[in-house]
Amino acid sequence: MSDLLKLGVLISGNGSNLQSIIDHIEEGSLKAVIKIVISNNPDAFGITRAKKHGIQTAVLKNDDFKDKEDFDSALIKILKKNDVELVIMAGFMRILTPVFLKAFPQKIINIHPALLPSFPGLHGQKQALDYGVKFSGCTVHFVDAGMDTGPIIIQAVVPVLDNDTEDSLSERILKQEHIIYSRAIQLFSEGKLTVRGRRVLATTGSAQGDAFLINP
Ligand code: GRF
Repeated sequence: MSDLLKLGVLISGNGSNLQSIIDHIEEGSLKAVIKIVISNNPDAFGITRAKKHGIQTAVLKNDDFKDKEDFDSALIKILKKNDVELVIMAGFMRILTPVFLKAFPQKIINIHPALLPSFPGLHGQKQALDYGVKFSGCTVHFVDAGMDTGPIIIQAVVPVLDNDTEDSLSERILKQEHIIYSRAIQLFSEGKLTVRGRRVLATTGSAQGDAFLINP
């Protein structure tokens, strides 16, 4: 148990990515342990999911803090107290301050529902649809000071179909999110990810096969 990578998962909403990480851990394909799930939204369904699996939770309400740094300091305190080694942003609707980035250098990852660097920020699926691209997907990346700009770990590609709505495209992308997020965490936990400038290299070469095209 003690040699498992200790995760802290940050959420704001539904928590389907959290659920997929829990499921991969429980079925044994992800060697990690979730030490705590933290939400800035008291009504996040992800909190219910975590509790159902006996995972410790905490809620930090945005309005209870005087500024962003104050919020982030409280977040750091909880994560450090739980010996968290990798911070997982899973639909966490806040921008982290430099205070937080400094506390977990290259130990924060995020998932974004588009093929970065295209369509960063909110509503990546709608942005892709509106732009008219024929392929979109999702990206797991290390978090840096920018908006969805950190080094890319894994991407998955899905087609955009003529009759797609924002919902149907989001659903197709989400299925891939649930595969690649746990895969990225597993590569990290095996110490296989090396960051060279903007590029993340998997030392075994095994991330190579992770850029894939999935049919709808
Ligand atoms: C996902 O689409 C993720 O890419 C984005 O926020 C959404 C979170 O969904 N960052 P869920 O809460 O994991 O279901």
